[in-house]
Amino acid sequence: MNILGVETSCDETAAAIVEDGIKLRSNVVASQIELHAQYGGVIPELAARSHIAEILPVIQLAIKQAEIDWSQIDAIAVANGPGLLGSLLIGTLTAATLAELKAKPLIPVDHVEAHLYANFLNIDKPLKFPILALIVSGGHTQLVLFKNHHNHRILGQTRDDAAGEAFDKIAKILNLGYPGGPAIATAAQSGNALAYTFPKAKLSNRFDFSFSGLKTAVLRQAQLLAGKDFRALSTTLYKNLNKTQVQDLAASFQKTVIDTLVKSTKQAFELYRPQTVVIAGGVAANQLLRETLRHELSIQIQYAPIEFCTDNAAMIAAMGYYQRNKTIDPKKLQANPVLSM
Ligand code: KG4
Ligand code: ZN
Repeated sequence: MNILGVETSCDETAAAIVEDGIKLRSNVVASQIELHAQYGGVIPELAARSHIAEILPVIQLAIKQAEIDWSQIDAIAVANGPGLLGSLLIGTLTAATLAELKAKPLIPVDHVEAHLYANFLNIDKPLKFPILALIVSGGHTQLVLFKNHHNHRILGQTRDDAAGEAFDKIAKILNLGYPGGPAIATAAQSGNALAYTFPKAKLSNRFDFSFSGLKTAVLRQAQLLAGKDFRALSTTLYKNLNKTQVQDLAASFQKTVIDTLVKSTKQAFELYRPQTVVIAGGVAANQLLRETLRHELSIQIQYAPIEFCTDNAAMIAAMGYYQRNKTIDPKKLQANPVLSM
């Protein structure tokens, strides 16, 4: 069964063809990073406009690269949330129109849950359930226990900022560029992760996360080092910081986020003893997070190649396969920016 996946929830226009939820036949991602980098973050209106220009050529290319034609596509899966409304609208309207025109079943897919399915691509043997998944992206931070493809329990989630969002905001303060995750990781390599001690949130549910306090703590430390008070504009502080200070702040910040994520994942692993532990989402591309989890947990950690950790449509098509009985009338498909797993 060939499924065409369509993804436009944020700043990547993507389409892919996946066979039987596992075999990747094509994967096309038109990234808008350059478009948004000049602003230090995603501008929703620009993202939506760019999706309009890119979506049809990206879908056409995915079909061409898979060396198939429309008659060999069995269904269309599309991310209908969560994400930016204007961006989601382009993907959902395109997928619904194509489903109608080409008479294909249409499968709505939750973007955050789909991140797990990047780990089902091109594998030799299926991952064993129950699966404990740490899904860490620019918009979400969740610890989820999957009993099977249709039954999951959210053990904890962020109360405020997502882990990736914290990386992006701190990178902006330190003038390291966008997206912040890889930029912080690179700067941190030359920094001292023990230079500064930042607070970790203590929450009533030990599997919940909160990164807003950490963000403020890093900002206050940067202000202190720059010799400025809290009234100083956060985006100009970097001019009064030297390279070592920036690298130390990046390393200490990254260590705090990773220690927090690893501690909760380890506790959940010890409590629920899952068969498989997976990290997914853009932040799962972080090498130190991977290494620390590998070191701390007595189980092999599963993670996808980096291009499948960040947003892509292959994960949408792969999840669509397991949700193939949950089709929707194209006229009833709605984009939902706050869709929750
Ligand atoms: O999953 P994703 O592509 O988009 C969302 O669904 O949000 O995740 C993007 C996030 C960004 O916040 C980016 O800074 C972060 O993933 N990221 C990283 C790394 N690579 C990407 N964070 C930490 N370390 C990385 N190497
Ligand atoms: Zn994502």
